[in-house]
Amino acid sequence: MEERGLEVFAPEEEEPDKDSEVFFNEKMLNNRDISQIAVKVFRERAGLEEEFRVADALAASGIRGFRYGEYATDLHLNDVNPEAVEAIGKGLDENGIEATVHEEDANVFLSEFGNYFHFIDVDPFGSFTKFLDSTARAANHTSFVGLTSTDNAAPAGSYPTVCERRYGSKPIKNDFMHEIGLRIYLKEVFRNFARFDKCFDPKVCFHERHYTRVMGRVTESKKRTNKALENVGYLSYCGNCLWRKFERVKNCPECGEETQEAGPLWTGKFVDQRFTSDMLEDMPEEWEAYEFLEKLDAEAEIITPYYDIHALASNIGTSSPRREEFIQALREKGYPVERTHFSPTGVKTDAPIQDLKDVIRDLKA
Ligand SMILES: C[S@@+](CC[C@H](N)C(=O)[O-])C[C@H]1O[C@@H](n2cnc3c(N)ncnc32)[C@H](O)[C@@H]1O
Repeated sequence: MEERGLEVFAPEEEEPDKDSEVFFNEKMLNNRDISQIAVKVFRERAGLEEEFRVADALAASGIRGFRYGEYATDLHLNDVNPEAVEAIGKGLDENGIEATVHEEDANVFLSEFGNYFHFIDVDPFGSFTKFLDSTARAANHTSFVGLTSTDNAAPAGSYPTVCERRYGSKPIKNDFMHEIGLRIYLKEVFRNFARFDKCFDPKVCFHERHYTRVMGRVTESKKRTNKALENVGYLSYCGNCLWRKFERVKNCPECGEETQEAGPLWTGKFVDQRFTSDMLEDMPEEWEAYEFLEKLDAEAEIITPYYDIHALASNIGTSSPRREEFIQALREKGYPVERTHFSPTGVKTDAPIQDLKDVIRDLKA
């Protein structure tokens, strides 16, 4: 197998899973493309070109580590599966990359490197929560981490009890549940780093198909962490009129119905636009991830969870306008509004809900 000019030793499979001899999923290309460029941008911004220590803690074929190899001065790849370790060795030889290979449980591996790594990639099967503690210990005082989770059903509200157990938060299953899920993951990452007086600052976080990726900068600072605590809170949502706000409100201010509550979750930005605009300069435009990153970049400043146009239209008993038409009409009214990466029928805007509904009524009149 091959990815972006690098040789990978893994069987070609339609649906790779945890029983694969060596796991390699071609469909995670966008995730790896975005991760590689984010790492490049972080290293340059942090001035770490001279010394950049990287860990791929659950490496499988090693493809992520190979891709970060270009920037690393000290590269470590780890996997608990001996067949993966063999594939990593072959890949390193074939691609002419120098690295240290480990065959350990990721928690054991990371715990051997206190405050050491400038970048840590955590890409397990399922949720990353059981690796958060050792990741926080191994992250350098100034560093960057990237974590993938494929456990989306729980934080997106399909299994509320599992979500409470694993993430200590209440989800809501609704038309913007994937943003709620992302924000629950982010809260969990932030809180875990905070226990070590390390502040996790989200830079580029997103949801795609069955997975969520969280990437951010880590700085050891009590003051910074204390300040960032203001970004952990609750969301109130009205299932009757679709109003939503990051605030604890018992009754909907629009229609008076009792609200539903999600949280605790991350209520701040999940993309740093200065960071993603640097990434766009570095990412080849022909990569599929480029357009995806453009959407993330555009929606970065709008905090209110996204609206689904179909849900809004059906709430007022009409059919949906086209998304571009809806966006245009809202812009003409002076509201900031953008497409969202979460959904092809979603829009991000801070416009009041009544105005959103009025715009749909006007477009459908
Ligand atoms: C989803 S795959 C990683 C995919 C890889 N990062 C990529 O981009 O292709 C997860 C890997 O974690 C390994 N693994 C599972 N549990 C582990 C543990 N506790 N410690 C270390 N590796 C583990 C598995 O053997 C598997 O190779």
